[in-house]
Amino acid sequence: MESTLSGAFDYQQLRNDITWDVAERELGHTEGASINIAHACIDRHVEAGRGDKLALVHENHEGELRRFTYRDLMLLTNGWAGFLRGLGIRNLDRVCLFLDRVPELYIGFMGILKVGAVVEPLFSAFGEDALHSRMEDSAAVAIITQRKHLGKVRRVRDRVPSLKTIIVIDHEEDGRPLRDGEVAYSMLANRLETFSVFRAYPETPSVLHYTSGTTGKPKGAMHVHGSIFAQYLTTKVVLDLKDDDIYWCTADPGWVTGTSYGIIGPWALGVTQVVVDAGFSSDRWYQTIDNHRITVWYTAPTAIRMLMKDGLDPVKRHDHSSLRHMCSVGEPLNPEAVRWGREAFGLDYHDTFWQTETGSIMITNLPGMPVKPGSMGRPFPALEAAIVDPRSGEPITSPGRVGLIALRPPWPSMMRTYWNNSATYYGKFLNGWYICGDQASLDADGYFWFCGRDDDVINTGGHLVGPFEIESALLEHEAVAESAAIGKPDPVNMEVVKVFVALRPGFAPSADLELSIMNHVRKRLSPLAMPQEIAFVDKVPKTRSGKILRRVLRAQEMGLPTGDISTMDDN
Ligand code: WT7
Repeated sequence: MESTLSGAFDYQQLRNDITWDVAERELGHTEGASINIAHACIDRHVEAGRGDKLALVHENHEGELRRFTYRDLMLLTNGWAGFLRGLGIRNLDRVCLFLDRVPELYIGFMGILKVGAVVEPLFSAFGEDALHSRMEDSAAVAIITQRKHLGKVRRVRDRVPSLKTIIVIDHEEDGRPLRDGEVAYSMLANRLETFSVFRAYPETPSVLHYTSGTTGKPKGAMHVHGSIFAQYLTTKVVLDLKDDDIYWCTADPGWVTGTSYGIIGPWALGVTQVVVDAGFSSDRWYQTIDNHRITVWYTAPTAIRMLMKDGLDPVKRHDHSSLRHMCSVGEPLNPEAVRWGREAFGLDYHDTFWQTETGSIMITNLPGMPVKPGSMGRPFPALEAAIVDPRSGEPITSPGRVGLIALRPPWPSMMRTYWNNSATYYGKFLNGWYICGDQASLDADGYFWFCGRDDDVINTGGHLVGPFEIESALLEHEAVAESAAIGKPDPVNMEVVKVFVALRPGFAPSADLELSIMNHVRKRLSPLAMPQEIAFVDKVPKTRSGKILRRVLRAQEMGLPTGDISTMDDN
């Protein structure tokens, strides 16, 4: 393959200039000194005289705005921290956030870090089972939630013995009595001038993010305060945030994009960010860009495809002249989406590839770097990445050959372990590389091209859903004897969940039963995990040792050869 590039962009020069210690230096960190993410993202700016700068512009569903300066954040996070300390919460305790995108989610996140506890963000649409498995695995001691989600928390509380306190942020608006172990906290009424922030160090645990795997329950990727060095530098270099930017990240902090780049990154740089707590509609999104004069926008391919579906007319009805940089993450960004972005906004969507486990952007299209539509770009300049042979872990350099995406540890935001599951953590390394579990190839210019995941995990709209979690939830349904869940290709969401279900004796397929099974999964896990399609089968293909052969079902679904089925149980 011939190089297709020309122009002034100098990748090698960036590799020389951009190293992780640049971030340490710019954040004022010296060897052996303490660093707390919350202090570096908030108090540091106030101490430097930038307290009056807007940190957060929050818009609720009704379009009402609330504005918070960095000084507001300092006082409010001090308030949170003082309150949590008063509850007896100590360093390393796990504290869950189970909130919609209300200001308390973003500010509470930093309050938890100020007492030195570990933040465990949980997506507020999670159902009981999804909530329970994560809280139980982490042995969480407290959860911060709002009235509308309190019912779910109450239903799991007896099964989470570690849980001591449920904190309700909007009790005043409601007034119905709270129960034992439940306390009300009104963030805006609790500003505290000073608080002695917990002295964390780069290796002190900070955030615990659960992610789905192929087997077993979700795994908790444990991050540390030093992750900020990577989040800071990638936000600066990839998202290109500058002092006067107005930044919008569309991701929910229940997922890592919403914390690394929806909380930590922009605030580490002292930038103003906009949060909109409203569902998707293309008009509302264009209005957000227009009304807030958004300059930098970080979103996901599924959202871009939904915008594409509505065509260019809604784009033209709004002013998007403020936009200067756009990035995308979570799933492969189709070449058509990049081309559409050029037509709609006159800008390139810059793809970024990374994972919950990596904590920050790993492979990406840097500002100014020629974008090849369909490619994820090149390794972040401070990082070494390769495509390796799945057996030997040796780098494959010949262009176009598919192998596994491999990253050379360490980097500051790499997870330090899977909570309670170090065996799985150590299993992710091969020949000195961290193996992401994704397949890709390289071209002659060193650009990475994504091929697919190397496991059975389903990626729906940029959210990973574990087939095991869905199959476990299905087993709780009275009609289900056994099941298998796979990702079925979908034009908007990349994949949707399809399940194959063998029924118990006495049950027969029907439209009502389909609906009841779908609803069951939605309620137990989340709307994302809900099957969009159910096929009733006599039995589910398995290996002789009882492992579900999802790849056989996937291949059948796509009309492809089923591959090696010699280990299949055909009884
Ligand atoms: C998996 C990680 C970290 C942000 C959101 C997802 C897939 C992520 C891309 C991309 C193709 C991508 C991979 C990866 N993925 N970004 N730019 N192109 N695939 O975090 O939930 O931990 O999922 O998402 O399969 O391994 P996550």
